[in-house]
Amino acid sequence: MKKILGLGLLAGAASLTGCAEKELLPPEFEPNLVFARGIEYRDDIPMEEPLSKTQVYLDELFGTPDAPKLPDFISEDEELASLVSLEILKKAAGPVTESTGLYRRHQCHTCHGITGNGRGKLAATLATYPRDYRMGLFKFKSTEGSDKPLREDLRRVIWDGIVGTGMTKVPDMKEEDLDPLIDYVIYLSWRGQLERNILYMNEDVYLELDEDATEEDIADAEAEAKDLIEELTIEIAEDWLYAEDGLFDVPERPEFPVPDTIADVVAAAEGSELAESIKQGKEVFGSEIAGCTKCHGPEGYGNGQNKDYDNWAHDWTTKMGLNPADEDSLIPFIARGALPPKFIDPRDFRQGVFRGGEQPEDIFRRIACGIAGTPMPAAKNLSDDQKWHLVNYVRSLALPEEDADSASTPQAGDAESRGGDAESAAD
Ligand code: HEC
Ligand code: HEC
Repeated sequence: MKKILGLGLLAGAASLTGCAEKELLPPEFEPNLVFARGIEYRDDIPMEEPLSKTQVYLDELFGTPDAPKLPDFISEDEELASLVSLEILKKAAGPVTESTGLYRRHQCHTCHGITGNGRGKLAATLATYPRDYRMGLFKFKSTEGSDKPLREDLRRVIWDGIVGTGMTKVPDMKEEDLDPLIDYVIYLSWRGQLERNILYMNEDVYLELDEDATEEDIADAEAEAKDLIEELTIEIAEDWLYAEDGLFDVPERPEFPVPDTIADVVAAAEGSELAESIKQGKEVFGSEIAGCTKCHGPEGYGNGQNKDYDNWAHDWTTKMGLNPADEDSLIPFIARGALPPKFIDPRDFRQGVFRGGEQPEDIFRRIACGIAGTPMPAAKNLSDDQKWHLVNYVRSLALPEEDADSASTPQAGDAESRGGDAESAAD
C-alpha cells in the first residue's frame, strides 16, 4: 500500500483533491454498467452475470490500467501483433513514473477517465463531452463513415488538441510521447469495444446449460465462449489494422482559388474569382440538395431547425428504446455513470472554428465524409467543385476573433444545450 501511495503522490497534486483515498487505490476497468443496463432494459434479460463473467475474461486478456496485457493469440500472430506494442503502450499506461504514465502525466484521464470511458472528473463540466473510446468511434479522421481512424489522425488530435473543445494543445508534450499515447488509446478503445460486443452477444457467448449438465458440457461451453471472444477480439483488431482501406482521398484543388488561410478567404476582393466562388458556395449551402441550412441555419450561424444528439448519447437512450429527453427514465442510467444527453450544436461558422482542422482539404473531407458519430451527414450528391465552393463559403463567414466570441445565437430556448461557458473558457 505504501508503494501505491508514493506513486499516487507523484501523479500530481490535482488528483489528490477530493476523495484522496479512492484516488490512491490502483484503478480498475469498471464494467460498462450503462451499456449492460441498456440491454437489460431493452431485451428484458438480467445482465449481472454476463457483466461479471465478461469482466473476468477481459482482465485475463487485457490486464488492468496499471498492468496492461495483450491476449496471447494477438501477441503470437505477427500481423495482429503489429497493431500496438505492449512495450510502447506501457509508457502511457499506469501511474506517472519516469518510464510510465504519460496518459496521466498529460491529464488525459481528467477528461477521458483512466479507463477511457469518457468520464474523467472534468467530463460533466464540458460543453462537448470527452470521447468515450469504448464505442470504437472517432470523429476527426481521414477515413470514411465509421471506419477506424488512422494512427496519423490520432496523432494529430493528440498533438494539436481539438480547437473549440476542452481538449487544448498540451504544451509540454514531446514527440516521443505520441506513439505510446496512440497505442494506449487504441488499446483502451479495443478493450472497451470488445466488452460491448461480448455483452451485446451475451446469449451466444454464455450458453445456458441444463441443470443436469455434466462437467464436460460446462467445459465445452467455456471453450466455446473463449473461441467466440477470441473471434470478436480479432475482428476489432482487424478493423484498426485495415483502417487504411477506408481512406478518403481528397481531390486536387480546383481551377478557381481556394486559399490556404481563412484570413485570405475573408479578405476576398469584391468581384474576384474567389468572391464568385464564395457566392456559389452560398447558393449550394442554401440549396435543397445540399441541405446544410437545416442544421447550420440560413446564414451558417449554427441555428437551423434540426436538433439532435450524437451517437454516444443515442447509444444508451434511443437505441435501447428510451427517449433522451425523458429525464426520469434516464435516472437509472445516470446513476450508473451516464452523462446527461445534450443536443449537439451544428457549427456556427462565424466562430471560424474547425475542429477537424482548418485547411481546405480538412474541411473538404468533413463535407464529403460527414462527421462520424454526429448528425453531420456526408454530402453525397454534390460535385467536387460544389464542395470546394462550400469550403470557401463556410470559411468566408469567420468573424475576427473578438467579434466571434460575442456572436452567440440563442438556440431555440435551450441554453443548456450550448453548454454554458465551459467550452469557451477552456479555449
Ligand atoms: C480538458 C479535457 C480533455 C483532456 C485533458 C483531453 N481530452 Fe481528448 N477530448 C476531449 C473532448 C471534449 C473530446 C471530444 C471532442 C469532440 O467530440 O468534438 C476529446 C476527444 C479526443 C479523442 C477523439 C478524437 C476523434 O477524432 O474523435 C481522442 C483520441 C482524445 N481526445 C485523446 C486524448 C488524449 C490522448 C489526451 C491526453 C494527451 C486527451 N485527449 C486529453 C477532452 C479532453
Ligand atoms: C443533420 C444536420 C447537419 C447537416 C444537414 C449538415 N451539418 Fe454540418 N455539422 C453538423 C453538426 C452537428 C456539426 C458539429 C459536429 C461536431 O463537430 O461534433 C457540423 C459540423 C460541420 C462543420 C465543421 C467541421 C469541423 O471540422 O469542425 C462543417 C464545415 C460543416 N458542418 C459543413 C456542413 C455543410 C457544408 C453542410 C451541407 C452540405 C452541412 N454541414 C450539413 C450538422 C449538420
